[in-house]
Amino acid sequence: MEIIIQPTPDAATNIAARLLARLIREKPASVLGLATGGTMEALYRQLVSMKLDWSKLTTFNLDEYVGLSPQHPQSYHSFMWEHLFSHVNIAIKSVNIPDGLAKDIPIACENYERKIFAAGGIDVQLLGIGTSGHIGFNEPTSSLASRTRIKTLTPQTLRDNARFFGNESGVPHHVITMGIGTILESRHCVLLAFGEKKARAIAEAVEGPITAMNPASALQLHPKVTVFLDEAAAAELKMKDYYRWVYEQKPGWQKI
Ligand code: PGA
Repeated sequence: MEIIIQPTPDAATNIAARLLARLIREKPASVLGLATGGTMEALYRQLVSMKLDWSKLTTFNLDEYVGLSPQHPQSYHSFMWEHLFSHVNIAIKSVNIPDGLAKDIPIACENYERKIFAAGGIDVQLLGIGTSGHIGFNEPTSSLASRTRIKTLTPQTLRDNARFFGNESGVPHHVITMGIGTILESRHCVLLAFGEKKARAIAEAVEGPITAMNPASALQLHPKVTVFLDEAAAAELKMKDYYRWVYEQKPGWQKI
């Protein structure tokens, strides 16, 4: 894993956006795995301001709430159109987000996996991390080999996401999420985490044992992961000075 620690969320977001912009310019027909959540808002704002060409890209979102229509203001469909898709020249047919209203959820999940495969797999997967250590909505004890499926959120995630719904009771309990196995098959994972609330989950994910109790720790098995942190989210990393040193020593050709 490459750990990039910056003084502020803005500084880390800017570098992450530069990395993504470079990948999109290098491969205009990339397949992007996209994430939602507060952390992604600034990243998408930054990407929009870069005026990249999205016309050949294909996107697959990580997850969606079960029972919310695409028009529901808190659905991840709405989130994506509000923060990204309405502002870039992406083709609607190239956007893929799990269907929270699917009548047959297991079949819809299988079809989602098939579509990712048919698109050639995901080139870059964006990830946030929950305070529980979840990636996508793969909550603790998720199988590290899991595929796209229905999951039940933990009380912790319901509390964390209550801010988007006004109160905790409004947060749907079920979600469709890509699995950890699905995420691990993407060619490059880019994780962003900011703020002290993420510090414990990040320390466990990066330096702890690989365990289903912290699903993000499965990323240690992936050959290419870039983690962008602010100081607060990096606070509990034992080797943070080393990560900083590695980043400062990067040869020019490796710099972002
Ligand atoms: P956040 O969510 O960006 O809103 O903190 C991250 C996540 O739950 O994956």
